[in-house]
Amino acid sequence: MDKFVIEGPTKLKGKAVVSGSKNASLPMMAAAILTDKDVILNNVPNLRDIDTMCQLMLKLGCECEREDKTLKINCANISSDFAPYDLVRKMRASILVFGPLMARLRSAHVSLPGGCAIGVRPVNLHINAIRSMGGDVDIENGYIIAKTERLRGETIYFDIPTVTGTENVMMAAVLASGKTVIKNAAREPEVVDLAKMLKKMGAKIEGEGESVIEIEGVDYLDGVEYTVMPDRIEAGTFMCAALITQSEIEIENAPLFAMDAILDKFVEVGGEYELAENGLIVRGRQIKPTMIKTAVYPGFPTDMQAQFMAVLSLAKGTSIIEETIFENRFMHVAELNRLGANIVVSGSKAVVEGVDRLIGASVMATDLRASASLVLAGLAAHGRTEVLRIYHLDRGYESLEKKLTQLGAKIWREKQ
Ligand code: EPU
Repeated sequence: MDKFVIEGPTKLKGKAVVSGSKNASLPMMAAAILTDKDVILNNVPNLRDIDTMCQLMLKLGCECEREDKTLKINCANISSDFAPYDLVRKMRASILVFGPLMARLRSAHVSLPGGCAIGVRPVNLHINAIRSMGGDVDIENGYIIAKTERLRGETIYFDIPTVTGTENVMMAAVLASGKTVIKNAAREPEVVDLAKMLKKMGAKIEGEGESVIEIEGVDYLDGVEYTVMPDRIEAGTFMCAALITQSEIEIENAPLFAMDAILDKFVEVGGEYELAENGLIVRGRQIKPTMIKTAVYPGFPTDMQAQFMAVLSLAKGTSIIEETIFENRFMHVAELNRLGANIVVSGSKAVVEGVDRLIGASVMATDLRASASLVLAGLAAHGRTEVLRIYHLDRGYESLEKKLTQLGAKIWREKQ
């Protein structure tokens, strides 16, 4: 196991290049199941989660090869509908093969993901939707076991606009018979990016990015070459790095079209930005306190909550952060407090009393975004910070320590 060592405080300078989006790449990889032709994905980040999804594709009998940032997947000879617990427990997003398997093979044997560090995270909405589309679904020994003659279009109403649920149903519906309408669909940019890719394969989808998506099933989908959108959460994390170190940096490839809520909050807490040729230049100033409430897109993303909390721990005044998406996404609080932050959690709210300085310590990463917040805090903390268990970070941030080193940070990887 590796850890990061950070010597702080640091000033950053220079340019960070944002990689392709993890949460857009993963469903697109699963979408390769829907065709017997090549699916070529460009701008795919080199991450642990992407490797796990590739392993899953191989297990299903597909080919999955990477060359630099390009993935080539071919599912012409897909031979299995089995997604084992071994892989699914490593990465919940494995559930994304459920919809495509039901569409292409008309059967699926997929492990239930179980809970995770940020919440219970059930997949009941995915299962109910596939059932109402004509899937015969049982749960046995921790597995979803499902089959169908052929899925049929249906009106699906989601109680909660679930991101991977919307993606799963969209992928199931593109090859179903008739029309599927998803109401209260997730509007996240990654859902839209998936829809664009599916349309390029010949799918008939309307309304992506809105809360009602309509899909007319077709009999066949073609291969595709598609370039994955840049990662808005990685871009936002670099913005927080500029804020917490009060530095000026350039962020290349930031997907501004998907970042309104993040940009607004950035300015509210004292950041400044200007558009650059291919991204933006951001400047951190005196950090101001604020209120943050996470929400589904286009609201403030839960995946940026922990990073902003690290920043606000150094604000002049008191901030309140409310987490509304996941019930247990404050695991970073105790670790930030070990670095000298003053944060108190009460139910779904955290009260962040700004302190003058953070002081280096050993802290433990518990999930992906929590880990990022600890790295950010480490950049500002005085002395040496060690962030343990950074395998969480490797799941979702490509070469974070290299990118930060290029910006002038003193951060390196060591064996734990
Ligand atoms: N929910 C249910 N039942 C379901 C599905 C969801 O109750 O069947 C609940 C969840 O428990 C949660 C809420 O609905 O409270 C929203 O969950 P959602 O299904 O939207 O989350 P997800 O699809 O599992 C994706 C991202 C997460 C991101 C969330 C919210 C991927 C692979 N994952 O998860 O990304 O936090 O949407 O935006 O796209 C991350 O990258 O660090 C990460 C956790």
